[in-house]
Amino acid sequence: MIIREATLNDFQTVNEIEKSCFVEPYNEEHLLYEFKENPLNKILVVEDDNNVIGFINFMITFNSATITQVAVIPEYRKKGIATKLLKEMEKTFPKDIDDVVENITLEVRKSNFAAIKLYEKDGYELVVEKKHYYKDGEDALYMVKRLLCR
Ligand SMILES: CC(C)(COP(=O)(O)OP(=O)(O)OC[C@H]1O[C@@H](n2cnc3c(N)ncnc32)[C@H](O)[C@@H]1OP(=O)(O)O)[C@@H](O)C(=O)NCCC(=O)NCCS
Repeated sequence: MIIREATLNDFQTVNEIEKSCFVEPYNEEHLLYEFKENPLNKILVVEDDNNVIGFINFMITFNSATITQVAVIPEYRKKGIATKLLKEMEKTFPKDIDDVVENITLEVRKSNFAAIKLYEKDGYELVVEKKHYYKDGEDALYMVKRLLCR
């Protein structure tokens, strides 16, 4: 199993994972923007036997990183793969003290028990609930991992 930066060749597979894993998946146009144009965006994919089985999508702005998506296909879940993606993401953060990432933030659906557990186990803490954050009216939990305070 390897984790590497996504290339445009991964677009179709990531798009399929996207559609099968999220309640409100990005449409193709949006995902393509994330792949090709968003200068802040990074996508790592995890591969098993040359097949992409999951990915993490995040961006870094100044001293803060934001996870926008993390997904693992159902057959590979509960094997620590999303946890590995979170750790690999942190390894990509700039090492220069002037650019150091101090916090990682994210929003997660209040009903997404598996994801909330994943994040809590990796050191993310609930900061606030954002009411009616999603298009369908569901609340989000805004969670933060503080990297410099540990
Ligand atoms: C959330 C998700 C990424 C977790 O991926 P995963 O590879 O199964 O996660 P891990 O195996 O690294 O799990 C780490 C911890 O999270 C918790 N966890 C993960 N899935 C869980 C589940 N279904 N029920 C309860 N706890 C769960 C556990 O504490 C687990 O540790 P443990 O196995 O030692 O008990 C995966 O379920 C998924 O792709 N879901 C659909 C997309 C999504 O909702 N993404 C998150 C919002 S962006």
